[in-house]
Amino acid sequence: MELTDGPALHAPQRINDAWTALPSWLPVPGMGVLPVNSFLLSGTEPMLVDTGLSALSDEFVAALGRCVAPEDLRWIWLSHTDADHIGNVRKILDVAPNATVVTNFLGAGKMGMMGGYDLSRVRVLDPDEVFEASDRRFHQVRPPYYDAPETMGFFDEADRVLFSADAFGALLPEPVNCVEALPNDTLREGLVGWSSVDAPWLAQIGRAALGRMVRDLHDLAPAHVLSGHLPRADDLETLTAHITRAYGNGETSDVTDAGRVAIDAAMT
Ligand SMILES: [Fe+2]
Ligand SMILES: [Fe+2]
Repeated sequence: MELTDGPALHAPQRINDAWTALPSWLPVPGMGVLPVNSFLLSGTEPMLVDTGLSALSDEFVAALGRCVAPEDLRWIWLSHTDADHIGNVRKILDVAPNATVVTNFLGAGKMGMMGGYDLSRVRVLDPDEVFEASDRRFHQVRPPYYDAPETMGFFDEADRVLFSADAFGALLPEPVNCVEALPNDTLREGLVGWSSVDAPWLAQIGRAALGRMVRDLHDLAPAHVLSGHLPRADDLETLTAHITRAYGNGETSDVTDAGRVAIDAAMT
């Protein structure tokens, strides 16, 4: 993929019997490529998790339609209202008459401020409310880092799937199908590079606070980690080890190097 190319939609990727990833890849000049993922849960109440890039809207909606009949789509879990997550909500609601957006109070408020959304098709979850769909229970999860305060990940009890929204995203040299295909250094640099751009406040976080957040995730013992910006991953500990080594003591050389790359890229 040339960095001058536009974003590209890739083929759906099966995570397990219930979950499918709908991946796309966004070139980031000077920094590599960024995965931009949505996920689809099959079952009695199919649920789409985030809605992809509007630059790919026709292709995305067509690919979604090959995975689920639009009239069967029941829920759209919206992690947050950034363009790379909310990009195709309107278009999908247009073709999926029985779909309802799931978000929280701030997410719905931001949709209201943007205008153009039918808020009668938005289900607002209370803090800590457990959402139930397709005979599954979804516990809201605040990821250890994020770029918008409404960010709402989840833990799917049935398949032990952790959806981490922007957290654990990685800028990578080229598209790959799973993190196991990446050399350790490439994964580390990708995770630190993305997190230092997306959540620069991590550089100020204390080790104890970061450790508590990571421990809470480990206590869930997920079988799969679905990130909006990472290829398929099954091993949470590999991801958190890279993050806790890079952060938790103020600025580190890792963060400084990644930040310098971002600044250089922005100035050229
Ligand atoms: Fe974001
Ligand atoms: Fe994002």
